[in-house]
Formats: sequence, C-alpha cells, structure tokens
Amino acid sequence: MIDSLQDWLFMVTKMDDFKDGLAGVPAAKSRVSYVDGEKGILEYRGISIQELAQKSSFIETAYLLIWGKLPTAEELEEFQTEIRYHRRVKYHIRDMMKCFPGSGHPMDALQTSAAALGLFYARRALDDPQYIRAAVVRLLAKIPTMVAAFHMIRKGNDPIQPNDDLDYAANFLYMLTERKPDPLAAQILDICYTLHAEHTMNASTFSARVTASTLTDPYAVVASAVGTLAGPLHGGANEEVLIMLEEIGSVENVRPYVEKCLATKQKIMGFGHRVYKVKDPRATILQNLAEQLFEKMGHDEYYAIAIELEKVVEEYVGREKGIYPNVDFYSGLLYRKLGIPTDLFTPIFAIARVAGWLAHWKEQLAVNKIYRPTQIYVGEHNLSYIPIDERVVAIPSEGMDGF
Ligand code: SDX
Repeated sequence: MIDSLQDWLFMVTKMDDFKDGLAGVPAAKSRVSYVDGEKGILEYRGISIQELAQKSSFIETAYLLIWGKLPTAEELEEFQTEIRYHRRVKYHIRDMMKCFPGSGHPMDALQTSAAALGLFYARRALDDPQYIRAAVVRLLAKIPTMVAAFHMIRKGNDPIQPNDDLDYAANFLYMLTERKPDPLAAQILDICYTLHAEHTMNASTFSARVTASTLTDPYAVVASAVGTLAGPLHGGANEEVLIMLEEIGSVENVRPYVEKCLATKQKIMGFGHRVYKVKDPRATILQNLAEQLFEKMGHDEYYAIAIELEKVVEEYVGREKGIYPNVDFYSGLLYRKLGIPTDLFTPIFAIARVAGWLAHWKEQLAVNKIYRPTQIYVGEHNLSYIPIDERVVAIPSEGMDGF
C-alpha cells in the first residue's frame, strides 16, 4: 500500500535504478580480474586464464591475485615456504571437527572451521602488513588441511598430517588418501585451482567484500564467502552436475531430460551464467584437461552424456539465450576421475577461491567504505498492533508482483 504521493514518487524514481540480483550494477572498482562475457575472455591482473593455466602454478597465481604482480623467484620461494610451514591446524580445530555430524556437508564443516580460525588469530590489525601477510598465508595453508581433515574424521579416521615434501595440490590429494598422488593428477588439480581462483564480482566474492567492509577479521570474510559459494546456483553446482549426469544415466536419455527441464523451468546444472553468453573459457580448458586425464586413467562413463548434454542444450536454448557450459560443468568429471568424493567438489572450489576472496579483501581494505545499499520499501505503514486473541484474519502479505 502506498500512503502518499511522496512515497509513490520515491518508489517510481528508485524503481528505475533497481535491478533484480543487482544484474549489471557495478559494486566495486577492481583491478583483480576481468571478464568479457560476449567474447569469453577471463584475465587475472591482465593475464589471460589460458596463459596462467599453461604456465603458472596455483600458488604463483594466488600471489599474483593477492599482491597484484607476478612474484620474483625469491618471493615465490618465500611464499611457498611460509604456506608449507603453516599447513597444520591446531588440535583444538581437529577436536572441534570430531563433534561435527559425519553426515553433515563438508562445505558447512569448512565454513564453521574457517570461522573458528578467527578464535585463534583474533587480533584485527588490518593496517599491519605483517598481520595481513600472516592471515593470507594461514588461510591458503590451512583451508585444504581442514577440508581433508573433516573428510578423514567423518570416515572414522584420524586426519592425515600434511606432507612437507609435496606441493600444494599434491599435498591435498595425499591428505585424502595417505598415498603420494600420480604427478599428472596433482598437476591437473593444480590447474583446476588456478582456473577457480578468481572471477570478478560473483556472489561469494561480493559476500566477502561486504563482510570485509565492516572491518571484521579475514577468517569471518572467508567463512561468509564459503557459505555463499555452497549454494547450488553458485559453486555447489559442480556437485549437482554429477548427480544430474547419474540421474540421466545414458546418452539416449539426454534429449528427454533437457525437454523435461525446459518444460518445467528446471535449471540444467553447470549451464548458464550471469556474465558469459558464450561457453565459459574455464569450461573449455577443464574439458581438455578431462580428456587428457581420461586418456591416461581410462574412459569415464558419464563423459559421453556430458558431451551430448552440451550439444542438446545448445540446440534448444544455447544459441537463443546464451546458455552454455560454465566452470562447474566439466570440473566434477575431472574430480571423479581423480577419485575425489562428490561432496568435496565444492570445497575444492573453495580452496582455490580463497585466493580471489583474499585479493578482494585486501582491495576492499585499501578503499574501504562500508557496504550499505538501500531498498525500495513495498510494505505497509501505520498499521495497528492487533492483540493476539483478536487476530482472526491473517494480514495478507503484499507480493512484489505488479510493481
Ligand atoms: C558459478 O558469477 C560468477 O562468476 C559465478 C562463477 C564463479 O566463478 O564465481 O562463474 C561460478 O557460480 C557458475 C554458475 C553455477 N551455477 C549453475 O550451473 C546453476 C545453473 N545455472 C543457473 O541457475 C543460472 O544460469 C545462473 C544462476 C548461473 C545465472 O542466473 P541468472 O543470470 O540470474 O539467469 P536466469 O536464471 O535469470 O536465467 C535467464 C534465462 C531464463 O530464461 P527466461 O526466463 O528468460 O526465458 O536463462 C534461462 C532461465 O530460465 N537459464 C537456464 C539456465 N540458466 C539460465 N535454463 C535452463 N538451465 C539453465 N542452467
């Protein structure tokens, strides 16, 4: 109900600015990464994702994102050594995880554990470069250890301690199995981390920046971003893709499955993107990596279904609406071949995206103004409080439709 002409005028004016899901609304000025959704271009600090995937390592890419330049050999060595040194997590955190229900989702366990780090490193010296450096190192170092620890604990085992002889991705695979991984498997996981490290103002990064803007600690920043990434419309889609491929079950079932989804307005997981109107460049790289892996480690029964799905979606809605595979479409097939359980796919996305969140955390601190957007109030005014025993008819809630 609009009470006055003034309210009505305010609403009409503001409605012009309002965009559902803030689509296309700039929320920050950033130098961290760049996407051209029409041409399928992604750059981190000006360097193309293809070049980084081919030539860089995840830790070097994380350095680039967070400190804004490629490191020298000494800087990289120092950064890697610090991260290696800080991989272990305090036994209090491992004990806390033992109290988590084993049936809980690893993303929830990760969100809780990331927030718990803030209990141990509570000093909020956001203007102290040493504090910033220590927080960056701790988060990059400990998040994979916490993901692997929860996985071992839920299986009834003790967590496997990090292996100092192994690089970042190889160590994560080691902590899941206690076996040194195949070098190709470790190399491919490292590239996957690079591909997932950053992606402009996506939902979890926005969440990270909003949290950062309150000047809270970086562990809270990462915890809130992990919670946001977990949803099936965002990072959680990689897990849903595999569930969907299992449900489809065969190449012949693809067409009827797509028809059913489109008829019932159900989203096809791993497809579509707010920014890309062409195939996500990361999906192309991931698909190539998957093919390399299948060549070495054997064929995957779901790959043919995935290829057919891409073809049928393109035929039905791809060209018309710009719905193509996104980063989450092929990653699950890769992780499955690496022997990683389905519900760890999104935590792996989170391990990588910590780099981007931290880069945005630092960038936000440098120019900080607390995020506090406005809203368009479409509710009522001047209602009376009705005593409980007189509430015979429920107050109808006004929908947003019609405005
Ligand atoms: C990530 O933002 C980022 O950068 C995210 C990310 C990153 O690196 O951080 O790239 C990672 O989150 C990838 C996206 C993972 N999510 C999924 O795969 C879930 C399935 N996809 C969608 O639900 C959807 O495409 C979104 C959430 C990704 C984007 O949503 P938008 O921009 O709000 O678009 P929309 O849902 O309003 O869809 C627009 C149209 C609709 O048709 P019309 O009503 O206009 O006729 O496209 C259709 C939609 O129905 N559509 C789909 C579809 N995605 C969009 N139809 C079928 N299946 C789909 N997947």
